[in-house]
Amino acid sequence: MTATDTNDIIVLSDVTKTFGTFQALKGINATIREGEFFSLLGPSGCGKTTLLRMIAGFDEPTTGAIEIDDKPMAGISANKRPTNMVFQSYAIFPHLSVAENVGYGLKTRKMPKTEIAAEVDKALEMVDLRGLGNRSAHELSGGQRQRVALARALVMKPKVILLDEPLSALDKKLRDQMQVELRSLQQSLGITFILVTHDQEEALIMSDRIAVMFEGEIAQLDSPEGLYRRPRTKRVASFIGVMNFLSAKLTREDAETLTIQIDALGEITVPRDIAPEGLTPSEVDAIGIRPEMLTVLMDDTDTAERTVEGSITGTSYYGDMTYYEVKLPGDGDPVTISMRNTAGRSVLPAGSKVSVGWGAESIVLFE
Ligand SMILES: Nc1ncnc2c1ncn2[C@@H]1O[C@H](COP(=O)(O)OP(=O)(O)O)[C@@H](O)[C@H]1O
Ligand SMILES: [Mg+2]
Repeated sequence: MTATDTNDIIVLSDVTKTFGTFQALKGINATIREGEFFSLLGPSGCGKTTLLRMIAGFDEPTTGAIEIDDKPMAGISANKRPTNMVFQSYAIFPHLSVAENVGYGLKTRKMPKTEIAAEVDKALEMVDLRGLGNRSAHELSGGQRQRVALARALVMKPKVILLDEPLSALDKKLRDQMQVELRSLQQSLGITFILVTHDQEEALIMSDRIAVMFEGEIAQLDSPEGLYRRPRTKRVASFIGVMNFLSAKLTREDAETLTIQIDALGEITVPRDIAPEGLTPSEVDAIGIRPEMLTVLMDDTDTAERTVEGSITGTSYYGDMTYYEVKLPGDGDPVTISMRNTAGRSVLPAGSKVSVGWGAESIVLFE
């Protein structure tokens, strides 16, 4: 790949990394666009940190090439790259003041003291810590420390900010808040952010695009909506949210349509273009349908494009939502159905016989 599109800030071409005999990255191809919030998402050990460290310049690929801002990065050390890494908040120096922490990188660049002070003030302002420069770092809350870590990267004016699971040490409430803050800061600054996370919800909330990685390979690179609505493989579908899988097979095809026999739901004919790129229709062995795309029909006023009879085998009440496990015809596992608990909607107990509504447009094909 080459950076023909001037909006591409990073181009990864056939990047591999081998540790001894273990191949941690198996040929990564991707481009990251200028100004986007890009996430590397995948389970622990899939190679996210390895890839981020090579973009940062802490390590070199075994084979392949990394280009940043139209320049090949081979042999270019970390401090000469237009990137800066945000470490987890515990990596800040506790014995230094906030301002000393933030100005640390500029000091090593030998910038004059008065200029450092001005740049540090600007960076603290960006992360909402104005006036706290003289505080000792150990007096800060977890959220404030995370902001110092971010300011320490921003003050270096990088083109790309790299973040390796920056929020994983924070408790859930603070993490939710920081996700929103980081996203809005990134949007207002327009700097490219690359986030490493194993948390699919975090990646969905924050990112413009996400590369889902398994075992050293990118399984799918897409927008959050693309990954959720059009996952290419069962593995991606199960990693991003909950997906019900129902056995299915192709029974007919023509130029415009595919006819699929779904064990639990019967035969449907769908436009060919709902199939993901690269799918061979004759290889289809399952369809997927998300829990919110199925409806437990409560009374005659509830309608659906299609219905099927089922029985509830489990009910989990979450206040705003109820999750039902529902056995459909055939010998497949029960499906999960999520229902919003709007006014007047009752919660049905296990054992209830119900009609389940669904629509052909919400199914995903898998091979
Ligand atoms: N320096 C190293 N030496 C040997 N193996 C490594 C080294 N760094 C990472 N690995 C291995 O490479 C794989 C990917 O690691 P890593 O990139 O840290 O995964 P992730 O960040 O996705 O959890 C893991 O199996 C890890 O054990
Ligand atoms: Mg990691």
